[in-house]
Amino acid sequence: MTQQATCDIGLIGLAVMGENLALNIASRGYSIAVYNRTTSVTDAFTSGRGKQPTVVGCHTLADLVAALKPPRKVMMMVKAGPAVDDLIKTLTPLLTKGDVLIDGGNTLPSDTDRRTREVEAAGLLYIGTGVSGGEEGALKGPSLMPGGSPAAWPLVKPIFQAIAAKVGPQGDIPCCDWVGPRGAGNYVKMVHNGIEYGDMQLICEAYWLLKHGAGLTNPELAQVFAAWNRGDLDSYLIEITRDIFTAKDPDTGAFLVDLILDKAGAKGTGKWMSQLALDLGVPSTLVTEAVYARCLSALKDARVRASQVLQGPDMANRGDKAEFVEQVRQALYASKIASYAQGFVQLAAAAKEQDWPLDYASIAMMWRGGCIIRARFLDRIAAAYRAKPDLENLMLAPYFTDALAKAQQAWRHVVATAATIGVPVPAFMSALAYYDGYRHANLPANLLQAQRDYFGAHTYERTDKPGTFHSEWLDLRKPVT
Ligand code: 6PG
Repeated sequence: MTQQATCDIGLIGLAVMGENLALNIASRGYSIAVYNRTTSVTDAFTSGRGKQPTVVGCHTLADLVAALKPPRKVMMMVKAGPAVDDLIKTLTPLLTKGDVLIDGGNTLPSDTDRRTREVEAAGLLYIGTGVSGGEEGALKGPSLMPGGSPAAWPLVKPIFQAIAAKVGPQGDIPCCDWVGPRGAGNYVKMVHNGIEYGDMQLICEAYWLLKHGAGLTNPELAQVFAAWNRGDLDSYLIEITRDIFTAKDPDTGAFLVDLILDKAGAKGTGKWMSQLALDLGVPSTLVTEAVYARCLSALKDARVRASQVLQGPDMANRGDKAEFVEQVRQALYASKIASYAQGFVQLAAAAKEQDWPLDYASIAMMWRGGCIIRARFLDRIAAAYRAKPDLENLMLAPYFTDALAKAQQAWRHVVATAATIGVPVPAFMSALAYYDGYRHANLPANLLQAQRDYFGAHTYERTDKPGTFHSEWLDLRKPVT
């Protein structure tokens, strides 16, 4: 079939995210050509949900390319990894100079770096964009975090900003702006996901403290989360958590959450963020604890066996219930601030290494709506970076310094209580340890450096004079009685 070049954009991959994005694009007045490797999927879409004059189904990639107005824009919504490389390989000869290839998957930033260079070398432009918000976001307005070839941005900007979620008092600020060159957009999406992991783990720890420590029932938990959602913690993840505690299983009538096996899955973006934090040498401990907590949860059989052997307290907190609920709220808020602080520190470290000119206020606004971590307090983060674009750590922005100071007594109490009653709260503890570590001018690493020098002559610096030193510790040591 010969296509007429009438469409504004093409989209490949009609799984649910691809379908919903296509419908979103069409709903904003753009015409879209769609293709799926399995032709029947394309046909089912164009004769079902996508049956509208501005949605054109294509049976071959050549047809899809022929349907596009130049400069052509082709969005790939396929599984991240080799499938993207294969598709780029097939599409490149079909496209002409100045056309744009867009990857909308959760792609490893270094893959987008490489692909941007390769695609640009072939005369085309490339974008790797974070797309967040799940199925509903894709349909009604996701958060989009595009990076890649800067010259591609003006070509896709009108469509991207039209389909993105909107925020602000007038509801006209799109949760999408240019992030930076090469893999910057995917890096920002990866950090978004790492923060998502941290938020989810913190909420789960709060749940466990409230359920076991304070003995709250599911309806009470729903009320607590509803109240929290009206304050500083106002966010999508708190809102869905509230709803989850109200949902009953249609078959048994029991609360669905209580029937779900406590074994967490993961697709890997949180792990990537941890791995890259280690490579950069920055302490992104919240996401790492969250990844480990998922790993530990997955050891269900081992935990069941260990539960018969290992001893500890019964998780009950005998203190005042209402007071404890408020303390947990404050601990959650403070931990969340530490978690976002870590995410932005990692972004800054990556930006420095990769030479990306990142705008952190703009990134906070991209996350303000549409995405999974959307939250009211991202306005505060954006304000903090607007006031001081080179802010070293979010915790040092006056608003957050003050919030942490106010919350810390409750935060410490919650962490101490959790340790005392035996509720595992690795993310709460790690967040507090980060805060305490970061706020101390002195840490015990002097001793660590001495140990390294003692056994390995690794040398150390001194506080009283410049230079690098090594000591003969065997000669210096004295007998200890
Ligand atoms: C989003 C989400 C999404 C992510 C899923 C699953 O922004 O819409 O971050 O991209 O893939 O939440 O992630 P895990 O399976 O790793 O939990």
